Amino acid sequence: MKFVVDNRKTENIVTLQIVPFAHPQGCIGYLMADRASKEALALDVHLDFVYDMSERVKLEGWKLRYVVDSHTHADHPSGAASFAKKFDCIRVTHEQSNHIGVTFHPKDGEQINLGESKITVRHTPGHTQDHIVLITDGALFSGDSLLIGSVARTDFLGGNASQLFDSIHLLQADLPDQTTLFPGHDYRGRIKSTLEEEKKCNPWLLITDRDEFVRNLTANPPPKPANMNDLLRLNRQGVNIEENISVPEVINLVRAGGAASVIDVRTEAEFESEHIEGSHLLPLDKIEEKSDEVRAVPAPRLLLCQSGNRASMAKSRLEKLNVAGLSVIKGGIVSYKEAGGETLRGKLRISLERQVRIASGSLVLLGLVTGFYIHPAFLILSGFAGGGLIFAGITDYCGLGILLSKMPWNRYSSKSNISPVSHSCEASQPGTYAASLTDKKASKR
Ligand SMILES: [Fe+2]
Repeated sequence: MKFVVDNRKTENIVTLQIVPFAHPQGCIGYLMADRASKEALALDVHLDFVYDMSERVKLEGWKLRYVVDSHTHADHPSGAASFAKKFDCIRVTHEQSNHIGVTFHPKDGEQINLGESKITVRHTPGHTQDHIVLITDGALFSGDSLLIGSVARTDFLGGNASQLFDSIHLLQADLPDQTTLFPGHDYRGRIKSTLEEEKKCNPWLLITDRDEFVRNLTANPPPKPANMNDLLRLNRQGVNIEENISVPEVINLVRAGGAASVIDVRTEAEFESEHIEGSHLLPLDKIEEKSDEVRAVPAPRLLLCQSGNRASMAKSRLEKLNVAGLSVIKGGIVSYKEAGGETLRGKLRISLERQVRIASGSLVLLGLVTGFYIHPAFLILSGFAGGGLIFAGITDYCGLGILLSKMPWNRYSSKSNISPVSHSCEASQPGTYAASLTDKKASKR
């Protein structure tokens, strides 16, 4: 499985240069720049896009003017606040978003200018009440309203299926068929379509009856995004994911269904012996090669180990690879259990920390015994073990622990259970309403 924060090839639309950025979680953000004036705008900046987008802006010599969130994101942390701060530019949302730090709330139909390029903002409630789309030069940046072959869900944040029907049909009526569609999400790796294509193939656009559209859209909504309440708080207040997270907060989060954000960096054997149900195993010694899988975990990503040391090491290694949105669980699984957190227990194994203690103590004892009975030179073993423990204490780097983690008894055949795509902003396909009626009839028989 290979994930990348994908900086897709540039699209040119009359006066604008468009650079899409696709995330393994299915989010798509865009940089768009007026080719003549080099004035630029960023749309739907995922926190993980901040580094790559910043590099692109600098490389192109663009003057970033605006950072826009198409709506309040409930499925991922927005990087709008930190990105806007880097380039000292204006943050934009609909007035109903109520995001701290946003200074420009365009009205329906208002224009944003990048040099000679004009971008029209349309208010398109439905997925959320604060949803806006951008229209320019034959392109529609639809956020989470119209998606390729699909539409957005409407079952949270004041979403309304009937309003979504109106918003989408208004856009269809107003814009030419040749308009290029750039959505805010795609869970199948696509970047663009056209309105003409969608009118022909999108099953939601083939439903012309509003009531039927609403019935289908509101039937069987998919599960809510992991950490939704946390993400809403972060996105409304400006992302400031803490370096550490306390155990009581983690317990609440896990009980609320957020275990999918916990990344356990202990060894496979420790994980097998006991872990938080629903958490992901990515051992510290593989964390760099699996950084793309970390990106696929919903942020804030909570790093867990036995007592907190290895989680801190994992955080600094990942941050060197520009992975954002990481928090270390203070005190690790030991504190988590002491505070009443639930775990799943498997085969009883000796934790890596206890193995290090046993191995170090054995080396000290072996050095003393062999130094006394065979030759004093063997005392060096005791000195080596003592020196190693002091070094590990000072630097937080334990070579013996790394060696032990690679031993056969510390391995088992676990497979990563990280799914790159959760479809968390997309509606279930139409037909689930009909399917649910069939299920109900069958269950009555
Ligand atoms: Fe959304």
